[in-house]
Amino acid sequence: MKIALIGYGKMGKEIESIAIGRGHEIILKVGAQQSKSLSRETLQQADAAIEFSSPECAYSNIMNCFQAGVPVVCGTTGWLQRLEEVKTACHQSRNAFFYASNFSIGVNIFFELNQYLAKIMNAYDEYEPLLEEIHHIHKKDSPSGTGITIAEGILRELQRKNEWKEGASPSPSVLAIHSKREGEVPGTHKVIYHSPVDDIEITHTAHNRKGFALGAVHAAEWIQGKKGTFGMNDMLGFGKK
Ligand SMILES: NC(=O)c1ccc[n+]([C@@H]2O[C@H](COP(=O)([O-])OP(=O)(O)OC[C@H]3O[C@@H](n4cnc5c(N)ncnc54)[C@H](OP(=O)(O)O)[C@@H]3O)[C@@H](O)[C@H]2O)c1
Repeated sequence: MKIALIGYGKMGKEIESIAIGRGHEIILKVGAQQSKSLSRETLQQADAAIEFSSPECAYSNIMNCFQAGVPVVCGTTGWLQRLEEVKTACHQSRNAFFYASNFSIGVNIFFELNQYLAKIMNAYDEYEPLLEEIHHIHKKDSPSGTGITIAEGILRELQRKNEWKEGASPSPSVLAIHSKREGEVPGTHKVIYHSPVDDIEITHTAHNRKGFALGAVHAAEWIQGKKGTFGMNDMLGFGKK
């Protein structure tokens, strides 16, 4: 498969190494400078584009790929207010788009566990949930895209919470998210249910970026020949009873 890498930072480099290891060819590496001169003809040579760039440019990068007819796998976080526009454009241009706030299989298992736990906790309202996410100091968005997905999973299942807020919770119906930025941490997410007598905690700790990169390359392989918008549940079969 011929892959265009849009965004060639920490993730782009990790994806390059995994993709080459799986026998793929990287035909384009696009950073902030090169994106301005990126032509439709150049993009059209790719079988898939993998987009891990920055919240400010993800939308226009994805649209450029749709115009070139290239399927897109996107992992950039912090731009999701435009997700519905992207999905509409994908369907109109009969293209393929795969988005995940987190491509690691371990985190997607964690998402399932989180929802199951939230469902159980409906019967135990003495437990107050809290979400904590820790990332490296260079991260631009806050809370993390993964943190937002975890929060949405809790809101879907736990009837006593109906919105999330970063910082302290102003009311019992609001789920608090605490975001910390420290050193070079690749990503830690923790859900804590606190009660006067004990705490229940589930934690996912990424040791490095390889799990995200492998998931993104798998998604680029999986999306070949498909049309429409997809996510990790489609690829992994989670959530299907
Ligand atoms: N979904 C997941 O599983 C997952 C996992 C990890 C990270 N992420 C997300 O992926 C994104 C990238 O993370 P990272 O750690 O690789 O960040 P990074 O090291 O800061 O790299 C970002 C890259 O994007 C490039 N860029 C900036 N503007 C661009 C443009 N207009 N067009 C093309 N490229 C452009 C930068 O180019 P220059 O170097 O030229 O400035 C840089 O190479 C972030 O949003 C992060 O939250 C997602």
